[in-house]
Amino acid sequence: MNVIVCTDCRGELAFEPGQRSLTCTACGAAWPLRGGLPCMYREAEIRGIDRYMRWIYDGIPSMHDPSVRLLVPLLELGGSERRLRENYMARLELDTLTAPADGGPLRILEVSVGTGANLPYLQSHLPAGLPVEIWGLDVSLGMMRQCLRRPGQDHVRLLLGDAHRLPFRDASFDRVFHVGGINAFRDRGAALAEMARVARPGTPIVVVDEQLDPDRNHTLYHRLAFRAATFYDRRPRAPVEDLPSNARDVLVEQASRFFYTLRFRT
Ligand SMILES: C[S@@+](CC[C@H](N)C(=O)[O-])C[C@H]1O[C@@H](n2cnc3c(N)ncnc32)[C@H](O)[C@@H]1O
Repeated sequence: MNVIVCTDCRGELAFEPGQRSLTCTACGAAWPLRGGLPCMYREAEIRGIDRYMRWIYDGIPSMHDPSVRLLVPLLELGGSERRLRENYMARLELDTLTAPADGGPLRILEVSVGTGANLPYLQSHLPAGLPVEIWGLDVSLGMMRQCLRRPGQDHVRLLLGDAHRLPFRDASFDRVFHVGGINAFRDRGAALAEMARVARPGTPIVVVDEQLDPDRNHTLYHRLAFRAATFYDRRPRAPVEDLPSNARDVLVEQASRFFYTLRFRT
């Protein structure tokens, strides 16, 4: 089954070798390839803050991973990138995955995969021997190019897309997660609804971004560092009020001093 669909009409896509685009077999829309990847958004739809954030991410791909490695301990004074990523990976409950009865593959989607920094963690948590397809979507071609250079990840299926309009069939994925972009999205509710739509009912959907731990005391240094790191939002917090109405089993916890993990299912 082809899980990628046209974002205009959710029709089936066709691709002939040698072509420069995928074509929707239902409405005829053409989706071009950029940097060798299907580009499943229209330029006009990336607007406002989304366009600004894409411009930032397109400018920093090679600096992204070293900056995160350095900045998490520097700003949190005690945290570490590894501890943070291991914390939210646990919420994906990857150890409970089992092989599908129909013999098809399991599918895991990272929305806003960026340079692919989560991929090694994901792989180290997956039970051995399961047939798993890993999918990554991002709006920034610069970040995706960096991801393509990541060693050992050439089996990951990457595409350019907008988190507000995912180019996937309903209920296609056995796990869906997102790290580090949603606080600055134009419409968090739309992005959460899309993650819920493409996840199979009952599977954990995990969303991580910045929130100053409400249950800890913070020094002036921590408050200033958090303010500087979250320049894009006056009060960055877990978007619980933006969850779709069919969200259940909602859990919000701190993954570290500066980051929340929001887990829900439908
Ligand atoms: C801080 S980076 C996080 C990358 C990766 N998830 C990680 O944990 O290292 C945020 C990512 O969100 C992506 N992003 C921003 N707006 C987006 C949108 N509307 N749709 C999809 N991705 C978006 C950016 O291009 C960037 O790669």
